[in-house]
Formats: sequence, C-alpha cells, structure tokens
Amino acid sequence: MKILSIETSCDETGVAVLEKKDKIKVLTNELASQVELHKQHGGVHPTIAIREHRKKLPILLERALEPSLDYLAVTVGPGLEPCLWAGIEFIKVVAISLDLPVIPVNHIEAHILTPLMNKSIEKFLPAVALIVSGGHTQLVLVKDVGEYKILGRTRDDAAGECFDKTARIIGLPYPGGPAIASEASNGNKLNIELPRPMKNTENYDFSFSGLKTAVLYYHKEQTDKSEEYISSMSFAIQEAINDVLIHKTAKASKDFSVKSVILGGGVSANKDLRKKMKEKLNVPLLTTSPALATDNGVMIGVSAFFNENKAVHWSKLKADANLSIND
Ligand code: KG4
Ligand code: ZN
Repeated sequence: MKILSIETSCDETGVAVLEKKDKIKVLTNELASQVELHKQHGGVHPTIAIREHRKKLPILLERALEPSLDYLAVTVGPGLEPCLWAGIEFIKVVAISLDLPVIPVNHIEAHILTPLMNKSIEKFLPAVALIVSGGHTQLVLVKDVGEYKILGRTRDDAAGECFDKTARIIGLPYPGGPAIASEASNGNKLNIELPRPMKNTENYDFSFSGLKTAVLYYHKEQTDKSEEYISSMSFAIQEAINDVLIHKTAKASKDFSVKSVILGGGVSANKDLRKKMKEKLNVPLLTTSPALATDNGVMIGVSAFFNENKAVHWSKLKADANLSIND
C-alpha cells in the first residue's frame, strides 16, 4: 500500500510518499522550510506562510509523486487555519485528478505515532507522550492507537515558543531552540539560575511565560552582555525548560505505570532533553530522528497508515485549527 501525504499546518511544507509491505518505508520525503523567511519577523508570519505553502506544494508534489498510489493524506488540524486550508485545497485537486480517497490526519497524533513506526506497539503501549513544539506542549496518555487522554498542557506559552521568545530577548536568531542549544554547549560559567514554573504542582500542566519574564528582567539588568553571559543564559534557559518537561513526564509515566515514553515535536530535537529524559526514566524513550522531530510530510504518512479506516471522499475534508486528540 502506498500513501502520498501533505503537511502545511505551520511553517514547513512537506510532501512524502510512504509504502507499506511488511514494514513502512519512506520512498520520497520533500520538505520546504520557511525558517529563513520568518526569521526577519522573529516568528511565523501567517500571510507569508500561506503564500509559501501555495508556491511550494506543486513543486514538491512533482518531485515526490510516485505511481500506483492507494491513498492521499493531509493534516486537517490543529494548526494555523489558513495554512491548513492551503494543504487541504491542494490535496482536493490531487484527489480529483487521481480519483483517490483522502485520510485526514491530526497533527499531534502524527507526532505521537511517528516514533512508533515499524515497532510492535503491544510492547510500548500504553505510553505517555510529551509533544513539544512551537505551538504545542501536551502530555498525553496513549492508551492505544486512537485512544488518547490529554493529561496536561501549557497554560500560556508552548515550550518551543519559550525557546524562541527568550532567544529573541537575548539577541539570538529564530528559531530559538537550536540557537540556544548551540550556545548552551559552552556551559553556565556565570551560574545563572532561573525559575522552574509549575514544576512541583500535582497536575500535569505547564507554564512558561513566567520563565520568559524572568529572562527579560535578568537581561535588562545585565550591563555586560559578553559571550560568556549569552552562553550561560542559554544554558540556564535550556536547563529550566528541560527540567520541568522531564520532571512532569517522568511523574506521569510512574503515575500511569506505562510501558514507554514518546517524545515528539520540534523541541524533541533537543539533545540535552533526550539525554536527560532517558537517564530519568525507568521505561524506554521513543523518539524520531531529529529530522523527523520538526514538522514534515513523513509523519503525516505514518499516521495515515495507522488510520486507513478514516479515509474519506475529498468533499468531506475541512480544516479545524483547534482539533483535539482527546477521546
Ligand atoms: O514541531 P515544529 O517544527 O513546529 C511546530 O509545530 O511548532 O517545532 C518548532 C519548534 C520551534 O519553537 C523551535 O525553536 C523548536 O521547535 N526546536 C528546538 C530545537 N529544534 C527545534 N527546541 C529546542 N532544541 C532544539 N534543538
Ligand atoms: Zn508539529
């Protein structure tokens, strides 16, 4: 079985073709990142994002297209609504011309299922999944494929958003996550300490806006913005965000006696987060390669293989910016 999948929910345009025989295999993986364009705005600019999706989709499709497809798949939510529509409108035309059914995909579910690709799921489910990106921070109990319960989420900024905003405050480029991770590798020579908002609350919710404010005040007070200061501050930001993420995820994995922890979304590319999370857990940690952690077309195809029974006629597709995975 062969599926062509499309992702346009935020600032990456992804088109992929995956084939399943005994295992799922990625045949083509085309990606157009808009990071350079959004850099000037310090974050995702929706009008530019839609324009780029529309420009890039036909180009990527021509490169990715394979013969004898069985299904198409597209992200229908959650995400920026106009961006979701760009992908949906495009896939409708492909569906009409190739006369194929379309599998609507939930973007968060795709982040959850991608680390389970080609694994025997009985061995790893139930699991707790931490999905951390620029738009989302969710801790999800994965009882089975399609059976999810959101345990907690951020009450304000997402973890990736916190990396992006604090990076901007201290003068590092967008996206902030990789920039902060790179600076942090030089260590915290100045021993900067930052707060860990909501770390010790009984629930599984997160809050990152207080951390951002703490960085802002610290930065304003700092007269000597030396390289040593930038690397120390980056180290402290990364430590504070990762510490809270790891603490709450480890707590949930114990509380629900799960068989594994799944880590997905752009922030899951963070090496320090992966390493320390692994050390803290007493169950296996499932992740993707860093290239599949940030948004891409492959993750939509993987989720589609798990959701073949949800295929619909193209006329039924619609975007839902706030689509949830709660059952
Ligand atoms: O999943 P994603 O590509 O897009 C959204 O759905 O938002 O995630 C992008 C986010 C950005 O906030 C970026 O700063 C963050 O992921 N990110 C990282 C790293 N690579 C990307 N954060 C921390 N460490 C990284 N290495
Ligand atoms: Zn994402």
